[in-house]
Amino acid sequence: MKHIKVFAPGTVANLGCGFDIMGLTLDGVGDRIEVAAEAGASGLAIRNESGKRLPEKPEDNVITPAVAALLEAYGKPVRVEITILEKIAPGSGIGSSAASSAAAVYGLNERLVEFAMMGEALIGGTPHADNVGPALLGGVVLIRGYGPLDIIRLPVPDDFFYAVAHPDIVVGTKEAREVLPREIPMAHAVTQWGNVGGLVAGLALGDVALIGRSMHDVVAEPYRKGFIPGYDRLKEEVLSEGALAMNIAGSGPSVFALAAEGSVSERVAERMKSHFAGLGIGCNIYAGRVSNRGARIEE
Ligand code: HSE
Repeated sequence: MKHIKVFAPGTVANLGCGFDIMGLTLDGVGDRIEVAAEAGASGLAIRNESGKRLPEKPEDNVITPAVAALLEAYGKPVRVEITILEKIAPGSGIGSSAASSAAAVYGLNERLVEFAMMGEALIGGTPHADNVGPALLGGVVLIRGYGPLDIIRLPVPDDFFYAVAHPDIVVGTKEAREVLPREIPMAHAVTQWGNVGGLVAGLALGDVALIGRSMHDVVAEPYRKGFIPGYDRLKEEVLSEGALAMNIAGSGPSVFALAAEGSVSERVAERMKSHFAGLGIGCNIYAGRVSNRGARIEE
């Protein structure tokens, strides 16, 4: 069997106002897996050598529906063996499930985003592409539509940095989706449309200030921030450090901020860490550039 090594980066979904339709790619954090495939035989084996706790049964691993969707479309028996070598902490909110699904299907084949979305359905109940899109393609990704899937890669400004904090608390994606309102008042929809337009325009124009003021979200953040201790105070502190904006990373519990300078993103990540430490909550932090590179084969 031919073995290949694949890396898929961590991602931040929603970018504040773009619930289920926007995501960006993180530099320096992601999943590493090894994929082997053999035509003629069938079956899927998943080995976990990452040191992170993952579901023991293959049917509970996001890789399984993603690979099954791909193999079904392929229409021929294939035996697949996957070894997970490095893993973003599951449930972090920075696209842990998306990175696994993206790495697995990238290692295997073509209509990648559609297949990888099946892994997201296992975790969140709905197949959405705002983590798997950037995990596969890199940069900032807009999902203009789901039926059919219409994905647009947006330019990333040259000086564009992130800070992410993953506090040691658990917020399930399903639970975080269930707290959202089923209907949105027209006034909130108008606010959100304006911000999504501003965010896309800011990225297209390279206007980081416009990006920052457009990340405001009235659809998900007000309902989800209660899961994150001291959220409003943290946001004030982060903005006072010079961040362009802060919001929840995907469905949380990670929070993320954007900045126009690397030194600001590093300072903001430390500030996030001390915020959670002050509440007795451990936390992993990451800071770096927003990346233009998605999943890739590694030597
Ligand atoms: N858009 C998704 C959500 C991302 O916010 O629920 C998490 O998978």
